[in-house]
Amino acid sequence: MTSALPATPSLSQLPEWAAFLAAAKSSPVRTDALRIITAASLDLDLSGQRSSPAILASTQALLKARRFDELRKRLLAGEVANITEDRPAWHTSLRAAAPMAEVAAERLHMNRFIRLADSERRWRNIVHIGIGGSDWGVRLAVSAFGYAGAWRNVRFVANIDGHAIEGGLSGLDPHDTLIVLASKSFTTAETLQNGQRAIEWLAGAGIRNPHDQVVAITARPDAARAWGVPEAHIFKIWDWVGGRFSLWSSVSLTTALAVSADVAAGMQAGACAMDAHFAQAPIAGNAPVQMAIAGIVNRSVLGYGSLNLAPYDFRLANLVPYIQQLEMESLGKSVDLAGNRVDVPTGPAVWGMPGTDAQHTFFQWLHQGSDGAPVDFIVCQQADHGWPEHHKSLLANCLAQREALLKGKPYDEALKECLESGMPPRQAEWLARHRVHPGGRPSTLIVLPKLTPYTLGALLALYEHKVFVQAVVWGINPFDQWGVEYGKVLAKGIIDELSGRPAPAGRHDASTEYWVKAFSNSLDTAPTPNA
Ligand code: F6P
Repeated sequence: MTSALPATPSLSQLPEWAAFLAAAKSSPVRTDALRIITAASLDLDLSGQRSSPAILASTQALLKARRFDELRKRLLAGEVANITEDRPAWHTSLRAAAPMAEVAAERLHMNRFIRLADSERRWRNIVHIGIGGSDWGVRLAVSAFGYAGAWRNVRFVANIDGHAIEGGLSGLDPHDTLIVLASKSFTTAETLQNGQRAIEWLAGAGIRNPHDQVVAITARPDAARAWGVPEAHIFKIWDWVGGRFSLWSSVSLTTALAVSADVAAGMQAGACAMDAHFAQAPIAGNAPVQMAIAGIVNRSVLGYGSLNLAPYDFRLANLVPYIQQLEMESLGKSVDLAGNRVDVPTGPAVWGMPGTDAQHTFFQWLHQGSDGAPVDFIVCQQADHGWPEHHKSLLANCLAQREALLKGKPYDEALKECLESGMPPRQAEWLARHRVHPGGRPSTLIVLPKLTPYTLGALLALYEHKVFVQAVVWGINPFDQWGVEYGKVLAKGIIDELSGRPAPAGRHDASTEYWVKAFSNSLDTAPTPNA
């Protein structure tokens, strides 16, 4: 642990924060001006967010007060950034164009494994077992680039719910199935339990050495070895890569087997380009910084409690949970680096669904609900299918929803519409009130020229760095997740109780106590599996 405890002044006491607040409150959304930043081939259109020279000037002062330059340098140089766990958060080094020797060696190891499997046409089925960061990024990449299917079948099993592993294995030929166990810590209960079921399934099919059909990607090779995974099947990640950033490591083995090794390499190249932009671009034209500032205005100044993600691309459905974990595990904190309560609202809840499905699910709430939420629209200028009419409609819907959120529909316009449709005046006045859209709801548009590994990699790095900048301003550690750890510990205790080891009286609240007993009784009388 670092010896000198950090002293981060609380945000609301900084004169720079007061100036930022005043600037943000008095600055409008300029509907007559374009604000687009191009970075690593992406266009980030922030025209639907508040902006002004005063916001920019106060942002520069605020970032200086928060030692942004120094902290960014430390992050990118692999110095300790996660101070509560005393380690770097050096995911950027995994995607460096000229990586350090140990990273290069792992890339080579992975590529050799893939080449061999491909040349032997082995592993018709891949069952990827992992959770959180050991799952979402791979699911995202596979659904983004393998949406039209590939010769290998890929199944993902994350949840501890036995139905997940049951469904994940069902119908596969065990003799041609590779089990990929992805777990940085190699202690995650879900992954190890599901892995154990997979081993039993292989053994049950008469496979003599089931562990030979397992690969492990982990920062604990010793634990994987002890579990029985053959040495050549152990791929290393490092302690200095946060779990939610492990997509950039050999965890992408599954993507490479399912789609192609080029996907992982292309994503790394796009992310690396965004890293360079983040490191070098001036504040005014720095895409992650400006996106972060828009988010802080929305959350800490305007009080929006959530951020909606609307990827207008069917292939990016898994972007939502991926960014959800990135943002909410990183910014779901309310204590600053000095250990004091942060005195402004921090990370928003992140939620979403691809457009146009989202339009028929919750866009009503975004347009006319009492709270509303800022929306990140993400769309590709060019599609990869052969139906231009579909893409035209998709693009039009994306632009229309944004415009409706921003422009709204005032009462007079709604009334005019009703009267022009021939309605009697009293009815028109009544109906017009229902048809008012408040407007002025903030949004950002991110345009990818096309969905490629490069542009997806750049997009993910854009969000990563945005999150980092927000953490710097709020003064929190974006690289730990103590809230997740606490629940795991409690679950362990309850598992013990459900297994017949009683807990000391008074450990639980009345309701937990009641249900532990009730569930213990029903588990005692449950039929044995497959009986
Ligand atoms: O959810 C907490 C978490 O630690 C994530 O950060 C991580 O992605 C996930 O659990 C899985 O962890 P592991 O890769 O160690 O199994």
